[in-house]
Parts: sequence; structure tokens; C-alpha cells
Amino acid sequence: MTTVLETDGLERQFGKLMAVDGVSVSIDSDDVTSIIGPNGAGKTTFYNLLSGRLDPTGGTVKLRPRDGADLIDVTGQTPYEINRLGLSRAFQINNVFEGLSVIDNLRIARISQNERSLDLRSIARSDAELSEEAREVIEMVNLEDLEQTKCANLSHGDKRKVEVALALGTDPTVVLLDEPTAGMNATETDRMVDLVEDINEQTDTTFVLTEHDMGVVLDISDRILVLDNGSLIADGTPDEVMANERVKEAYLGGEA
Ligand SMILES: Nc1ncnc2c1ncn2[C@@H]1O[C@H](COP(=O)(O)OP(=O)(O)O)[C@@H](O)[C@H]1O
Ligand SMILES: [Mg+2]
Repeated sequence: MTTVLETDGLERQFGKLMAVDGVSVSIDSDDVTSIIGPNGAGKTTFYNLLSGRLDPTGGTVKLRPRDGADLIDVTGQTPYEINRLGLSRAFQINNVFEGLSVIDNLRIARISQNERSLDLRSIARSDAELSEEAREVIEMVNLEDLEQTKCANLSHGDKRKVEVALALGTDPTVVLLDEPTAGMNATETDRMVDLVEDINEQTDTTFVLTEHDMGVVLDISDRILVLDNGSLIADGTPDEVMANERVKEAYLGGEA
């Protein structure tokens, strides 16, 4: 059991609103962890704080870097720095280059990966090496047959796979997925669940996801964190969380 991500009293205020209100959690590398909660609970804001898109108004975020050394404090660092250290967030669809093939999208992700910025040395990297790295990720998400297909011509489910592949393309320690099954039909949803489970087993990457579909959440999660009004109201196994009175109230719209 290794902690890969840790928040302590994490807080973000917007005017008078406490969107994330003193959240302290440790994410374990052995778990697929889901973050759930009603609309407006603070899930997206929490992700934005973890990934550096928003600065917290209080508290800290710590991340275990790729080399497995001690957790380091990344509070207030830029998304680029945090990504370089090993936390990646599945891009939204509009970050996929629609006019490019699957493999070219992945090659670009590899080029722009951490140290390998667009300097002369990276440009000089052999084409074959880049393609090979891209193909490894394409295989992970089972898109081998579509690697030359333009992303604009992919089904919705396959585009979401490209997003996951792009997130994996930077060899992350932690991947944050924001509603990975949104807009998917039942078959696509099942495939995405299998995919996350497979990659979780095959790699050292730790997955954290937000998800609307409770069936998916219960299926895929080892651990569930529940946010309500910015506060962490439950943290446990799916069984524990489903039996939790505060969770039932939050989902039934109770006034508690
Ligand atoms: N940039 C912002 N400025 C002001 N309020 C915001 C901002 N982002 C989110 N909020 C508010 O913070 C609360 C949490 O939002 P959000 O994190 O998007 O919740 P969720 O993702 O769980 O639906 C909501 O009340 C939302 O209106
Ligand atoms: Mg949200």
C-alpha cells in the first residue's frame, strides 16, 4: 500500500461559496478510487485543485513523483509542472486533434511529454521510436485496428479511449478521469470499465475517477469518496458508502 496523492485540509473558496471545504484524503496506489457527489458538490473544483488548474485558498496537495521517492508538495504549482511530476488528467474531447489520426495524436502527446519538450534533441528522436511508444499506448486501449483513422471519424466511445490513451501517453503515476463514460451507450460503457480495469492491472498507474453512473462506480471502485457541498461526507468501500446515512440523504436531496 502506497500513497500516491494526498490532500490535507484542501480548500477553495469562490466569493462566499466554499466549493471545496477542507478535504483531507490519501489515495492509495492499490485502489481504483471514485469521487462522487450531487451536482455542484465540488468534484470538478477538487480535480482542478489536484491538477493545478486552480490554486487552493487553503490546504495542501502532495504527489508521489514517478521515481517513487517521497511525496512532494505540489500546492500552487502549474498544471505543466504537476503533469511532469506524474499526474495526468484525461483531456476533454476538444483536446484531441480531430483532423489527425489516432497514432499522430499519441505521437504528439509523446513529443510533448515532460523533459522531452520541443527542443532539438526531441525533434531528432527517431520517428520509429516515437511510433513504437505511441503503439504501446494504443494497444493498451485496444485501438490497434483504428490507429490510422482520423479522430473525427471515430465513434464517441473510441474518442473517449483516445482521451484515456493521451492521458496514459505521459507515463503518469496518477490519472484523473472526469466522467469517462459520459454520453456512452451500454456497450461502450462496459468496454470503458473493462479497459480501466485492464490498464489498472497491467500498469503502475493509479486511477481516480468521477462518474455519474452508479452502476459503473460500484463495479469499478475499490474505494469511493463522497463530496457534498464541498465537504467529504464519506470515504470507504462501495458497501460502506452505500450503507452510509449521510450519503443516502445527500442523494435523496435531504436537508441534513
Ligand atoms: N469558477 C467558479 N466561480 C464561481 N463558482 C464556481 C466556479 N467553479 C465552480 N463554482 C461553484 O462551485 C460549486 C462546485 O462546483 P463543481 O466543482 O463544478 O461541482 P461538481 O463538479 O461536483 O458538479 C458549485 O456551486 C459551482 O457553482
Ligand atoms: Mg463536475
